[in-house]
Amino acid sequence: MTPRIVRRIAELREEVAGYRRQQPEAARVGLIPTMGYLHEGHASLIRRSAQENGLTVLSIFVNPLQFGPNEDYNRYPRDEGRDIALASASGANVVFIPTEEEMYPEPIRTTVSVSGLTDRLCGASRPGHFDGVATIVSKLFHIVLPDHAYFGLKDAQQVAVVARMTRDLNLPIDIVPCMTVREIDGLALSSRNIYLNHEERSQALVLSQSLSQVPGWIEDGMTEAELVVRIRGKIRSQPLADIEYAEVLTFPDLTQPSADRPLRDSKEPLLVALAVRFGKTRLIDNVLLFPSEVK
Ligand code: PAF
Repeated sequence: MTPRIVRRIAELREEVAGYRRQQPEAARVGLIPTMGYLHEGHASLIRRSAQENGLTVLSIFVNPLQFGPNEDYNRYPRDEGRDIALASASGANVVFIPTEEEMYPEPIRTTVSVSGLTDRLCGASRPGHFDGVATIVSKLFHIVLPDHAYFGLKDAQQVAVVARMTRDLNLPIDIVPCMTVREIDGLALSSRNIYLNHEERSQALVLSQSLSQVPGWIEDGMTEAELVVRIRGKIRSQPLADIEYAEVLTFPDLTQPSADRPLRDSKEPLLVALAVRFGKTRLIDNVLLFPSEVK
């Protein structure tokens, strides 16, 4: 079914309220916040929401607040027609595509900031990025009032930040983390992959290849420091790879695991997270491991 395209906040509120009125007992609303240029990863979130909710709202908004001054806000890929076709094929009922004016009619004075979790990994090199994310996600949550909100684990730090914000602010919304979707050769899907030239794309496969070895390295008894040395060495074997970070942290609190104990003794889930540039393109990828998977 063709989704309804909604550009105004008031109209979106009316769509959701109308659905809830029709289903007073059984209404379930799912929200997938995105910045568009959708790919199969987004499609999998939409399909999951469509299975679990009576109304699936997809938002498409390239949020200026989460881009730094030298980042790719202006050249971030946009293709509304293609996005609507993918949303429709995946089962979205409503696609919300606001303008910047609609979301930020005046300079914003109220922002949402999640401390601690946001000063590391991507937050260290992108100051203010997660304030921008938390602010727009919080605005979308307040506009849509969903029961469930779906986020891809490729941005595991974003999932941790949004989940913590939701808990701290007592928002009655279930945050549903969803598995990273990959190309057949392992490259994690990202709207930014289109920036990669042939050589960069081929060298970028080192990210998923290194991450796929992590469970074995942990099982062998590596400590955090040993694993970081090993993974950095492997990534550096690709001459175009410029590592921004390669870190092991607990998830979802993003704390440093004990330095001298084998990681396989961790009682908490572990996140091995990478941010690496290939040419001008910054890619992130990660693997999330639960203690039972590394014993
Ligand atoms: O992951 C994204 O695409 C964005 O950070 C989000 C969650 C849509 C907020 O703008």
